[in-house]
Amino acid sequence: MSRRLFVTTALPYANGAFHIGHIMEYIQADIWVRFQRMQGHEVHFVGADDAHGAPIMLAAEKAGQTPEQFIAAIQSGRRQYLDGFHLEYDNWHSTHSPENTALSQDIFRRLKAKNLIYSKPVEQFYDPVKGMYLADRYIKGECPNCGAKDQYGDACENCSSVYAATALTNPYSTLSGAKPVLKTSDHFFFKLSDPACVAFLREWLELPGRLQPQVVNKAWEWLDGEGDKALGDWDISRDAPYFGIRVPDITEEKYLYVWLDAPIGYLASLKNYCGKKGLDFEKTLKDFEQIHFIGKDIIYFHTLFWPAMLKFAGAPYKEPDHVYVHGFIGVSGEKMSKSRGTGIDPLRYLNLGMNPEWLRYYIAAKLNAAVEDVDFNPDDFIARVNSDLIGKYINIASRCAGFLSKKFAGKLVAVEASNTLIRDLRSDAKNVAEMYDGREFGKALRSVMHWADQANAFVDQVKPWDLAKKPGSDSALQQACSDSIQIFRILTIYLKPVMPALAKQVERFLNVPELKWADANGLLPAGHAIGEYKHLMQRVDDKQLDALFDIQPATETKKETAVTDGTISIDDFNKLDLRVAKIVKAEHVEGADKLLKLTLDVGGTTRTVFAGIKSAYAPEKLEGQLAVVVANLAPRKMKFGISEGMVLAASGEGPGIFLISPGAGAEPGMRVK
Ligand code: 2FM
Ligand code: ZN
Repeated sequence: MSRRLFVTTALPYANGAFHIGHIMEYIQADIWVRFQRMQGHEVHFVGADDAHGAPIMLAAEKAGQTPEQFIAAIQSGRRQYLDGFHLEYDNWHSTHSPENTALSQDIFRRLKAKNLIYSKPVEQFYDPVKGMYLADRYIKGECPNCGAKDQYGDACENCSSVYAATALTNPYSTLSGAKPVLKTSDHFFFKLSDPACVAFLREWLELPGRLQPQVVNKAWEWLDGEGDKALGDWDISRDAPYFGIRVPDITEEKYLYVWLDAPIGYLASLKNYCGKKGLDFEKTLKDFEQIHFIGKDIIYFHTLFWPAMLKFAGAPYKEPDHVYVHGFIGVSGEKMSKSRGTGIDPLRYLNLGMNPEWLRYYIAAKLNAAVEDVDFNPDDFIARVNSDLIGKYINIASRCAGFLSKKFAGKLVAVEASNTLIRDLRSDAKNVAEMYDGREFGKALRSVMHWADQANAFVDQVKPWDLAKKPGSDSALQQACSDSIQIFRILTIYLKPVMPALAKQVERFLNVPELKWADANGLLPAGHAIGEYKHLMQRVDDKQLDALFDIQPATETKKETAVTDGTISIDDFNKLDLRVAKIVKAEHVEGADKLLKLTLDVGGTTRTVFAGIKSAYAPEKLEGQLAVVVANLAPRKMKFGISEGMVLAASGEGPGIFLISPGAGAEPGMRVK
């Protein structure tokens, strides 16, 4: 039966670039989504930036920007990662959006109308210099237990005792250094302790197959907590100044807590997508299974508050069908730490020219359906890629394709009836599919590599290279190579969710339309001609891994560039993310002599660029034209707004500015290399 799936990944805070933990989650979800699409299921796969909250407000302030400018700059950097790792989201939006404001306020109102939201005064530390209430992480002082200095407002790193910020001796604000004062203000609370909520959650958690057993156990612990561990009501509002969505229907300036509007951002991104595609959002919500991929650190929010909020907000909202939780990723046994910045920088990985599908394969090979941590081990990475992908899978085609093209114009003969390998390989399609569907990617790939081993054993046994030399063996040669290519095609189907770009290359080489899962039932017919075999994938070189982990300080890099005498390396060039862009709108800018304001479609996302081309182009002539944009240029604040990139244009000594335009057939979003 055909499924309809609305799939999300956790929304990353808009205060930094993606790290490898994000990319691992996105790869996991993307593989699952691609697999479902290959099955013919309909999927809406969306993400967004989690843009609100005090940390982002303060980070923007530190950067001398408004929060809007700050999050726009972060958001404009996302595409290079998503495209770079072949992550096929349908939409990438932001929680700082009209859709999210409307949905969050709507859900708040509905919960309030059901008496599940109430307000009560809360006494909290307040920074009189900064003029804001302080979350625990902005307060330090002496531990009330052991007296250690400079301990945070919730726990002591020295003696591990846990306390309330108000218990600290000599507390100070980390924002201004001022002594915080206690102040009271009214906060809104979501009544999670309401018997109806608790009863609902018990039932929701229990449904077999909805959640992983480890996740259910964790949620039960919270639900069944007693004493100071008992499930309390949830403080869902914050006082100004705050960067967020206003609490509706009150005159006082209060905001919804970022964790309230963040998951609603999933729905906002879907709504935004529906708007772009002319789909009915409410109907989509109702008709589609709702599935969230998240990390183990945010189970609490996604298995308690979020389903309860949705359930009691009522239709068209409905509780998630599944929340799939993964562990963390570490490097060589060391846990990733954001602050120490160890680990793999995904952008560096791409800029070194490393194949994104190596990483997709490696991560997939390590993933299962449990909430287990994944370890990135450089030697293991090299071994997996070189021996599995190149040595086993690619090897099948590279050993056989040449004979077919040289001797038989690429033409295949019918599969030999006695070839049980092909029969067994095809009948494994259901099994491999179940593993993908159940997120047992490691198992699925082990199965694929088992078949690749069998296929290589078959090639070793028939020895096409000997047959090619032996007179009168043409038909045996054509048979052996045809059978190998049939096997290679089926293995490609099984690998395609993990390695979509490689599969596309193979489709071209085999001369076949886009491979779907059901194609494993069929075979290429006798007489089908494959194309010429071209090298499909490079081996990983251990020098690349050395380079990946040897992060040079910024000053070193500058020095290197200085001595290169004006030339740049291919790595330098690869840092440029040049994209085909369609000018959807071009406008005069009031007060600007040289600038036009361009709205560009860069393949599903739009951005604004101010270009100094007014003297050469009338805006109305530009609309609909294609241009080339530097997509990863840090956004620049200009007098007239933020410019999120740069369009390329030529000019010389004389007059005239000439936009660089790609040839016919180029599509917005295509990479220019
Ligand atoms: O933990 C985080 O990084 C949060 N930004 C995740 C939010 S997920 C969802 F609720 F939006
Ligand atoms: Zn202590």
